[in-house]
Amino acid sequence: MWFYLIAFYLLTHNVQAQFGDHKQYSSYVTVREGAHMFYWLFYTTANVSSYVERPVVVWLQGGPGGSSTGIGNFDILGPLDLSLQERNYTWVKNFNVVFVDNPVGTGFSYVDDPQYLTTTNDEIALDFVELMRGFYRNHPEFEGVPLYIYGQSYGGKMAVDMGIRMREAEEAGTIRSNLRGIAMGNAWISPVDATLTWGPILLAAGLVDQRGYENIQRSAREAERLFNEGHFFNSTAQWGLTQSQVFAATENVDFYNILTKMPSRFNFGNIHEFSRDMMIRDMEYNPQRDMSLETIMNTLVKPALGIPEHVVWQASSRIVFDTLRPDFMKPVTEGIEKLLNETDIIVTKYNGNLDLICSTPENDAFGDVKYNAAFTRIRDVGDIFWWFFPSSEVDKPILLLLGGIVGFPHSFLLNFGGLGPLDLNLNARNNSLVEDFHLLFVDALPGTGFSRQDDAFKVSNTSDETVDHLMYTLQSFYEANTKYEDAPLYIMEQGDGSLLAIPLTIRLANDTRFSENIKGLFLGNAIISPALALTKLGFYLEELGYIDGLGREAIENFSNTTSHLVSRNLFDEAFDQFASLGEFVNEEAGAIAVNLAYIVQKITRNSTGWY
Ligand SMILES: *[C@@H]1O[C@H](CO)[C@@H](O)[C@H](O)[C@H]1NC(C)=O
Ligand SMILES: *[C@@H]1O[C@H](CO)[C@@H](O)[C@H](O)[C@H]1NC(C)=O
Ligand SMILES: *[C@@H]1O[C@H](CO)[C@@H](O)[C@H](O)[C@H]1NC(C)=O
Ligand SMILES: *[C@@H]1O[C@H](CO)[C@@H](O)[C@H](O)[C@H]1NC(C)=O
Ligand SMILES: *[C@@H]1O[C@H](CO)[C@@H](O)[C@H](O)[C@H]1NC(C)=O
Ligand SMILES: *[C@@H]1O[C@H](CO)[C@@H](O)[C@H](O)[C@H]1NC(C)=O
Ligand SMILES: *[C@@H]1O[C@H](CO)[C@@H](O)[C@H](O)[C@H]1NC(C)=O
Ligand SMILES: *[C@@H]1O[C@H](CO)[C@@H](O)[C@H](O)[C@H]1NC(C)=O
Ligand SMILES: *[C@@H]1O[C@H](CO)[C@@H](O)[C@H](O)[C@H]1NC(C)=O
Ligand SMILES: *[C@@H]1O[C@H](CO)[C@@H](O)[C@H](O)[C@H]1NC(C)=O
Repeated sequence: MWFYLIAFYLLTHNVQAQFGDHKQYSSYVTVREGAHMFYWLFYTTANVSSYVERPVVVWLQGGPGGSSTGIGNFDILGPLDLSLQERNYTWVKNFNVVFVDNPVGTGFSYVDDPQYLTTTNDEIALDFVELMRGFYRNHPEFEGVPLYIYGQSYGGKMAVDMGIRMREAEEAGTIRSNLRGIAMGNAWISPVDATLTWGPILLAAGLVDQRGYENIQRSAREAERLFNEGHFFNSTAQWGLTQSQVFAATENVDFYNILTKMPSRFNFGNIHEFSRDMMIRDMEYNPQRDMSLETIMNTLVKPALGIPEHVVWQASSRIVFDTLRPDFMKPVTEGIEKLLNETDIIVTKYNGNLDLICSTPENDAFGDVKYNAAFTRIRDVGDIFWWFFPSSEVDKPILLLLGGIVGFPHSFLLNFGGLGPLDLNLNARNNSLVEDFHLLFVDALPGTGFSRQDDAFKVSNTSDETVDHLMYTLQSFYEANTKYEDAPLYIMEQGDGSLLAIPLTIRLANDTRFSENIKGLFLGNAIISPALALTKLGFYLEELGYIDGLGREAIENFSNTTSHLVSRNLFDEAFDQFASLGEFVNEEAGAIAVNLAYIVQKITRNSTGWY
């Protein structure tokens, strides 16, 4: 008997194809003649009496042409990860998530003929409204349930026009959705502006020298010119060229994390293809991972979901990108204003600080903070990085902050972590010293902070030599900032920094080029107690989130012990103890692979020398 019941059930219910155990639904919606869009819904696993108690979140990948059902789902936030293991932090735990392969032609979405591809952001938005009409036809229980559209990168640009078109349809009564918000993550909302920020951010981060900066800016301004004159297609091409300028000037910086480099084996042959691929990545470049995603999608997911045989999944659709090239550089800032002015739709924007393509400055995180920064090249030694934040009035004194011999980069720690205009979250600092001084941070030793060393094993062992380099660096600073050549100069140091600050002050005072400028030296925990300087270490590491309170206490204990040895004149023992600092921080204090010589990066197991 039960067998017949089941058979009856199967006959009367359209059995849903499914991949994995999560409650889901996937379907095509024909959004226009010849245009078939695919979506994949995962019902929330939240402990609620009905899933409609939770909002619907639509996830859109960037590109244009990046696939949400693949990248967004398996690589970012779906219920299964790339190893097909449960993802702990999947958004499905809280929301009903819909991955949409859009624009048509992306992922499992397809067109019957290339003429049906979209050419503008508005066409993309209208297709999306049609897709959502199909969605509510399939799932009428979601009508009225709060809806949020999350767009990543180019997806953020699409989300703006989708918000506008969805709201119009809601007001016209042609769709029964309840759109509450759109969100733009590292979004491509003002492309020309974004491209113009690449040079400054790389210069500020010390990743390019002045010439590299100028090459990048020249190229970016050309993209701007072409755009302003209405040559949109060529402006996109020029944007691609600007990317290659960036790679040339930075030796292949990783666009998605400017603190790292792209693998050198990468082939930079075709600039156009390369820049397009970078845009679609939405993540670090990793061909290996793409392979596995393409295998998962085409050999496992495709048959499980009953995707038509002729549709071949690709992480990024080149034809979709190419068809949108004339639209690529157009901003959606007016659309954002419209949403803010005329609707109650919540508009959210979030950004990672280390993303270059959709960079943070474009998104205003540096706000009004003024700065300039550069490398000073010291021949056969390396490049010394300095970062200058002028105060609001020119006649304020300059405060020079040097890194110390332990290798803590002031450009980063003392600046963001202590007294610069922005704090570690890039929020304006209330009591920054920049109100009273022009701040000049110098990563004094090549190999610390952003300063680079030509040869990692050739470490200068005399402070004389280092002071030579600093004199030269200061000279180049003044050459670049002639406006400040008469400003009084003070040097401020604490802890180990005094080792350099004292001889530098003496040298400046005895050099006619600078003797009029140098007015004073502030010494914090002076060099007489290098061990005491170490007491700051716990604070910094905790502030950076590398260790917890217990780790901080352990480091304090460590430095107290060193201090104690020093106070008993046991210098050799103290030095041995100091030499084990890196190991201690990582093995005993709970930090994981912290590199004390370059604190924004991790050490690898095979690192030699310094922890
Ligand atoms: C789900 O929620 C109900 C009611 O709040 C609660 O009694 C139950 O323990 C929850 N189940 C789980 C697995 O958390
Ligand atoms: C996921 O969560 C479980 C239980 O909280 C934990 O045991 C597991 O280590 C987590 N996995 C990852 C990859 O974080
Ligand atoms: C646009 O690029 C094409 C191909 O490189 C070139 O032939 C054309 O002259 C360019 N147009 C403008 C306005 O720069
Ligand atoms: C939004 O409102 C501001 C202030 O009223 C106005 O200046 C601006 O033009 C409006 N923008 C749009 C796109 O409607
Ligand atoms: C900044 O200073 C103002 C006025 O002194 C104070 O009200 C405010 O709480 C401070 N903000 C922070 C984040 O400390
Ligand atoms: C500094 O290093 C050089 C070789 O790099 C060595 O010859 C010299 O003795 C060292 N000086 C001191 C004071 O250690
Ligand atoms: C000051 O400079 C002169 C000339 O260059 C030099 O002879 C002298 O030793 C210097 N004094 C100090 C304290 O460095
Ligand atoms: C501090 O260090 C000493 C000597 O290594 C050790 O005996 C003691 O347990 C440590 N205390 C803490 C709080 O870590
Ligand atoms: C380290 O020394 C300071 C100053 O003597 C003291 O206040 C602190 O409690 C000590 N910390 C540890 C962990 O022993
Ligand atoms: C690290 O060292 C291990 C063992 O010496 C070696 O097998 C491995 O290939 C090394 N990895 C790298 C990235 O050099």
